[in-house]
Parts: sequence; structure tokens; C-alpha cells
Amino acid sequence: MAGSRESAENDTPQQNLFGELDHSSVFTNKSVFDTDYIPRHIFVRNEFTPIVRFYFDALKFQLQQTMILIGPSGSGKTLACRFYAEEALQYAQEKGIVLSCAYVNCREIGAPYVFWQLVLGQLNSPAPKGLSITDLLTRFAQAVAGRRHLVVVLDEVEKLFARIGHEPTNDILYNLARLRANRNFDTAISTILISNNVHLPNFFDGPVRSSLNSSHLVIGPYGADELDGILTDRAKAGLKDGTYDASVIRYVAAKTAQYNSDARFAIRLLKNAAFHAERTGGQRLEKEHVDQAFEETRREMSIEVLHRLSTNQLLVLLALALEAKKTEEPFIGLHRVYKGTYRTACERHGWRPLVYSHFLHTVSTLQSHDLVNNMLERRRMGGYVRMVELNFSSDDAIREAEQALRL
Ligand SMILES: Nc1ncnc2c1ncn2[C@@H]1O[C@H](COP(=O)(O)OP(=O)(O)OP(=O)(O)O)[C@@H](O)[C@H]1O
Ligand SMILES: [Mg+2]
Repeated sequence: MAGSRESAENDTPQQNLFGELDHSSVFTNKSVFDTDYIPRHIFVRNEFTPIVRFYFDALKFQLQQTMILIGPSGSGKTLACRFYAEEALQYAQEKGIVLSCAYVNCREIGAPYVFWQLVLGQLNSPAPKGLSITDLLTRFAQAVAGRRHLVVVLDEVEKLFARIGHEPTNDILYNLARLRANRNFDTAISTILISNNVHLPNFFDGPVRSSLNSSHLVIGPYGADELDGILTDRAKAGLKDGTYDASVIRYVAAKTAQYNSDARFAIRLLKNAAFHAERTGGQRLEKEHVDQAFEETRREMSIEVLHRLSTNQLLVLLALALEAKKTEEPFIGLHRVYKGTYRTACERHGWRPLVYSHFLHTVSTLQSHDLVNNMLERRRMGGYVRMVELNFSSDDAIREAEQALRL
């Protein structure tokens, strides 16, 4: 320590490094750009009204309901459900109503018992390890008995089907929907099932479908004006006054609306552009900073998406990337990949290859994540051949897919 002070004393004139950084930064708060940040106010879109009513009916009328909420990535599904849950809890408290809410991101659930443990934990009733599902259900019934209403939000619910299987997931949904009737108690249990897969209801089996008695809410992607509203609020919360103007915010919104309409992308692009402004020592955020940040944001987001893919999706993507690298062609013939690179990749990772129709379906799920473009190309001798184009570099895709497959 003494040594470091001595050398600091020798460095004259002494610099005020933190003060300088503070002065040159365009940020007042970087954490408002984090993915999980819940703002104090949200930009209200009309599509959210049924969610508000859902919580209101739960707390006021004890109405047991299920809502299936579908919408594309970054359309505000998670935020709206979490934000209005907080509002409902506050309102219930003011009115002396006992309302409880639990939130589960299904990506974190690798087995049915983990689901019940997680919910029990959120109800302040943690369960010891090693209990059977029947015991966990009994504990869950004890934990909710005496409450007026529990609202459980299951986010990214399609992941639950993929991770623990259709039957166990249907069991969970059935137990949530039927617990009140089966145990003959007073607590209502409502659920919101969030997904960006429009085919979600096809995953429900007969008993679940009939006991859920669900309403559907489909929300669309944000338009440029709405993204502008969201970004304006975020900029106010995270950037210094006078370092940006409305036209640059509008520019970020327009670029995002043109690319994928994902509010998460828009917020990340604004943050990365502000980083560029900060790094180049500029005092203002300009459109050129947004242009500079665009590709890097696109790449970052693709890599994040990649780490959320299933093993089947990762193997298909890996095979496409290996083929693109080998052939150095922009378009990749799907049948050829399926017969060659895909099978080798599966073998190397000890995974059973999908049948061709599932392989093709998996390619289209990669397209819905904007990782590939799927197309048909006319053959000279007649007919069509299915081709895809990778949306980011094959080296990045190979490296990241291999890494995600090892985890
Ligand atoms: N109406 C809004 N007001 C303020 N911020 C918003 C709004 N909608 C979305 N956002 C922000 O945009 C980002 C993405 O929103 P959110 O996570 O709710 O999307 P999503 O629909 O759940 O997407 P995914 O399907 O990928 O999970 C979050 O950082 C969120 O805070
Ligand atoms: Mg979400």
C-alpha cells in the first residue's frame, strides 16, 4: 500500500481520474438499460388493458382465471405482467385484501420438483430437498390455503414443455387449475402463461384444456412511435440532460422498427450508442454513434439468443454454420446439410438426429429468432430446393454454439 501511495505522490500533477470520468460520461445511470430492470413507470399500450383487468378481477372478485399471453420477442409481455403484479399487490394492500403473486421463468426449471420448490420459496414456505411431488403439492396446498388469491405467472412456458416434457408440464398446469376444486378450499389460483409461440395451446392435453378455461391475449410488435415513447423514458432515466435530443431517440426507434421491433434491442442499441459517444469523448449522442453501434448490438443479441436455444436448435445451427464455413457459399442447401454435416455434428455430441421434417421445423424456429433466413430456390431442372442464409458470421455461430453445447 505504502508503495502505491509513494508512486501516486510522484505522479504530479495528481489526476482526478474518477472526477474526469464522471464529467465526460453521458450516463447518469447505466442500470436502467439492463434487461431485467423494471421501470417505475411503463409506457402504456392499449394491448395491456386485459392484463390490468385480469389482476383487478383477481383481487376484487376472486375470479379464478387463466390467461394465455402471446406476443413476439420484446413486445413487453414479461414487463407488463411483472409491473401490473406489483401495482395489484400495492392496491390490494391499500384495500386490506390478501393477494399473492409468484413469478416463474420456465427457462430455469429443469425438473417438475424445481417448479414447486421455486413457487413455495416465493410463498415464503421453502420446502426441504428430497420431497416427492405429492409432498410438494401438499405443502403448496398448505401454503396457499387461507390466502384469498394467488396469481402465478409462468414466463416462457414453451420452455417448460421442451425441458421437462409434455406430460409433466400438463400435470403442473392441471394441478394449478384444479387444486381449489380438488382440495375443496377457498383460495383461487389464477395463472398467466406467457409465450412467443402461437402454437402453445396445441401443447395442452384434453384435461388441461378443459380445466384451464382460458382467455387468449395476443399482442403485436411495437411500432416506431411506441419504441420512441419507451426510449424517451429510458433516456430520461439513464442519460444526462443535454447529451441527446429527441431526433436521435427517434432515430434509434426507427432503426429498430425497421429491423425487428424488439424493445429489448432498441434499449440495448441506445445504450451501446451512448457507450460509443462516451468512448470517443463526445459530449453528445449523435446519429453516427447509433450507426456505429448497430452491428455490434445485432451481434450481441444474436449471441444471447443462441445461449437460450435448445440442444436440437443448437445442433442444427452448428451444422448450418459448419457447412457455410466449408462451402464459403452464402446459401446453404438444407437437404445436403441434413445428410452430412448435421449427422456428424450429432454423432460428435452424442445426440440422436431429428427426422427430416423436425429438422426443417427446427430451422424455421431459428428463423423466428432471426438467426437464419429460410428460402426456396428454383432448380434449373424444375422444382425447388430449400436453402438458408446465416444471419451472422459462421465463425461466431460455431464458437458460440459449441460453447453453449458444452454447458
Ligand atoms: N411498455 C414498456 N415500457 C417500458 N419498457 C418496456 C415496455 N415494453 C418493453 N419494455 C422494455 O423492453 C425490454 C423487453 O421487454 P420484455 O422483456 O417485457 O419483452 P418480452 O415480450 O417478454 O420478450 P421475450 O418474448 O423475448 O421474453 C425490457 O427491458 C422492458 O423493460
Ligand atoms: Mg419475456
